[in-house]
Amino acid sequence: MKPPQTIETQRLLLRKPVIDDARLIFEQYAQDTDVTKYTSWQPHKSIGETVNFVNRCIWVWTNSSEFPYVLIRKGDTQLVGMIEIRQNKHKADLGYVLAKSEWGKGYMPEAVQALIDWALRQDDIYRVWAFCDVENEASVRVMEKVGMHREGVLRRWFIHPNIAKEPRDCYCYAVSK
Ligand SMILES: CC(C)(COP(=O)(O)OP(=O)(O)OC[C@H]1O[C@@H](n2cnc3c(N)ncnc32)[C@H](O)[C@@H]1OP(=O)(O)O)[C@@H](O)C(=O)NCCC(=O)NCCS
Repeated sequence: MKPPQTIETQRLLLRKPVIDDARLIFEQYAQDTDVTKYTSWQPHKSIGETVNFVNRCIWVWTNSSEFPYVLIRKGDTQLVGMIEIRQNKHKADLGYVLAKSEWGKGYMPEAVQALIDWALRQDDIYRVWAFCDVENEASVRVMEKVGMHREGVLRRWFIHPNIAKEPRDCYCYAVSK
């Protein structure tokens, strides 16, 4: 999989992260405990953690294992969140996060739709999927809005470390061609 380094939607530019993004990622959402409630990672306590994270983002692009994008609002070039796509054979999966001040404006469905459209245009990708905690209603709505189908409940699928130490039930959503 070789996704483009930038993808444009109506209101957003998705682009490969650069190290200078770390400060905005930290300030905008990475230390926000509301944003990180259902994330796989814990809130960042210092900008150094965010710098390490962005360095990792750049590295995974280099070794083509994962493709994280920062979401830039085109109107004012504000960094508002991130989305990531990963490929495993004929399947690709997504993860995403948005600054709390930007919730409810439909930005994430716009970004998710763009990556789904790109992925399903690739000859070797047949399925795009994602999971979310069964209580993460906002994420459920994102996936439903872009036409992903709920395929079932993955029992004890994932540890969301900011909620509990034990693995929790998650919904599996997917769209295929
Ligand atoms: C999930 C998330 C990316 C949604 O992005 P978004 O761009 O706000 O998506 P939408 O604008 O389509 O809103 C989706 C739902 O969020 C909820 N929502 C909207 N505004 C909200 C707000 N201010 N506070 C809480 N929830 C809100 C609503 O249920 C909405 O559904 P509706 O449009 O049917 O009312 C965002 O809430 C987020 O970053 N959450 C924290 C990180 C996370 O959970 N990531 C996903 C892990 S699987």
